[in-house]
Amino acid sequence: MPRLAVIGFPVGHSRSPAMQNAALAALGLGEEWSYEAIEVAPPDFEVKVRAMAAAGFAGANVTVPYKEAALVLADESSAAAKAIGAANTLSFSAGRIAADNTDSGGLLAALRGSLRTGRALVLGAGGAARAAIWALGAGGASVDASHPPFEVDVWNRTGARAAMVAAELGGNAVDSPIQAKYGLIVNTTAVGLHGEDPFEHLPLSAGGFAAEQVVVDMVYGEQPSPLLGAAADAGATVVDGLEVLVQQGALSLRIWTGREPPIDVMRAAARA
Ligand code: ATR
Repeated sequence: MPRLAVIGFPVGHSRSPAMQNAALAALGLGEEWSYEAIEVAPPDFEVKVRAMAAAGFAGANVTVPYKEAALVLADESSAAAKAIGAANTLSFSAGRIAADNTDSGGLLAALRGSLRTGRALVLGAGGAARAAIWALGAGGASVDASHPPFEVDVWNRTGARAAMVAAELGGNAVDSPIQAKYGLIVNTTAVGLHGEDPFEHLPLSAGGFAAEQVVVDMVYGEQPSPLLGAAADAGATVVDGLEVLVQQGALSLRIWTGREPPIDVMRAAARA
């Protein structure tokens, strides 16, 4: 009876259990496998994860605030997880813990079909930004061979953090990005999570989007987010955070089960 889970703090809001259990049922694994949410406070994270293998877990998704800690405690890690410096997927096998990062491949999968080459703007400098910068730039080809690398500009409210992650992951830090010059704009900041006006906090204007652009907002909740609403009004292609969640979850499920994930089932469950 292999168990799976998402582990985080807090984790009650996560759409992953609904999405992954629907996928397991559609694959005919619903009787055997299960996926649950585990909330664990920071002092207990490592002990809890190390106990999971013995408790019958085959794998886990790791979410805020544990993605860096998950990489550190793993016995082995993928090139993506190492480069990004964070892991969102753990696998337990033969007493060992393997770490992977499917946030990067998930973003590229969510963009598939709408990806053009050119210049990309990543807003933010946290873990989600690191995965995006790596995936869109130099690292992307290793998770998706069809992916054309972008020139990646990075903006962050605290400019020093943008400079740091850009230097580390191969982007260019920018203070005042020119919205019109980007083929792709990805918001990884928390702006909008608590109803903030993105156009007050981010270097973007509501009327500044163009039809040729692709705009991603990792923040989801409000549907569509004010950022994506404005982008869609301009005719831009929009991708929301739930689609990225579905795609990263599908890649994780494939790692654990070796089966082709039922994306449509997962998308419907995540959005229900
Ligand atoms: P994650 O790992 O999920 O990306 P994080 O490390 O907490 O989360 O990063 C949150 C991001 O949202 C940061 O880039 C943060 O900017 P700072 O580095 O300046 O803190 C950004 N952010 C949060 N609130 C913001 C706001 N009101 N305006 C602009 N950026 C904001």
